[in-house]
Amino acid sequence: MILFRFSKILTVLFWVFTIVLWGQKTTLSFGSCHKMDKSSSDVILNTIAVEKPDGFIWLGDIVYGEDGNSKDLKTKFDRLSNKAAYQNLKQSTKVYGIWDDHDYGINDGGADYVNKSESRRDLFSFLGLPKDHRAFQREGAYQAYTIQANKHHVRLILLDNRYFKTRYVKSKNNRQQYRKDRKGTLLGKAQWAWIEKQLKNSNATVHVFGCGIQLLSNKHRFEKWSNYPKERKKMLRLLQKYKVKNPIFLTGDRHMSELSIANIGYTSLIDATSSGMTEALTYNLTEENPYRVGPTIGEDSYGQLIVDWDERLISIIFKNSKGVPLYAYQQDLMKIN
Ligand SMILES: [Fe+2]
Repeated sequence: MILFRFSKILTVLFWVFTIVLWGQKTTLSFGSCHKMDKSSSDVILNTIAVEKPDGFIWLGDIVYGEDGNSKDLKTKFDRLSNKAAYQNLKQSTKVYGIWDDHDYGINDGGADYVNKSESRRDLFSFLGLPKDHRAFQREGAYQAYTIQANKHHVRLILLDNRYFKTRYVKSKNNRQQYRKDRKGTLLGKAQWAWIEKQLKNSNATVHVFGCGIQLLSNKHRFEKWSNYPKERKKMLRLLQKYKVKNPIFLTGDRHMSELSIANIGYTSLIDATSSGMTEALTYNLTEENPYRVGPTIGEDSYGQLIVDWDERLISIIFKNSKGVPLYAYQQDLMKIN
């Protein structure tokens, strides 16, 4: 009896200690642009695993398949799945993911890619989506999840910027540049209807959108939402229409990391770009981005989103492959009525 009481007291003390020490936090790590054969891949995957976040989100370019070669893409997904460091990550946290172009199967690709259904099958298999997952019942790879944190929850909405995307229109004067396309689509009709439904019915406190390409940054010549200005505006209007609580975009593709923030009236919108888990480059670090807050990061890195429910704070941290913070940003959670 005495022993039973003693062990009960120990259990209670353990939980009190745990809550006081760590408080109520939700941590989501994220990254993109990853080549598994580089030794830096093992380093960064193991670093993220050690931190045991509540989730890890792939933001595309998980592997680099040869353009148009489905077999190569599948082999690469399988090899990454079987890699010890990735298995270590999967054991330490729940992994979510969406593709960008190189794991979709073709550079800067879109709706007209002929092997897109094979790519989708292989992405879903890599992510381990169960056969009854709703994403199987529709075209494309968009998905949504609820991440519970005591009485709060985070809605994770993964957007597919490939499967329905119309072909880019190239600039007449500069063939390296894409022209703004006011007629084309990035997300396609069905996905837009699904997004609106997600936002309309959501009672989540924080809304995390994962997407391959940047939403806010609009001056560089590479892929971005603002190549489809109508769709970018539509996204911002939807957030405003439903006053979506604490909207945070997590994006990739750029081979550098940076934080962009826009005032969208009822709140500020975060676009945290974490790109270059193994593929960081430095040639675009001085590019113009009117929404940038903080530095551009040209070394291999990953991101962390931490929601501190007790202190009501959202933090975005970029860390190098060994887990050393390179930049940290913090803002208050929106007041919820
Ligand atoms: Fe990409």
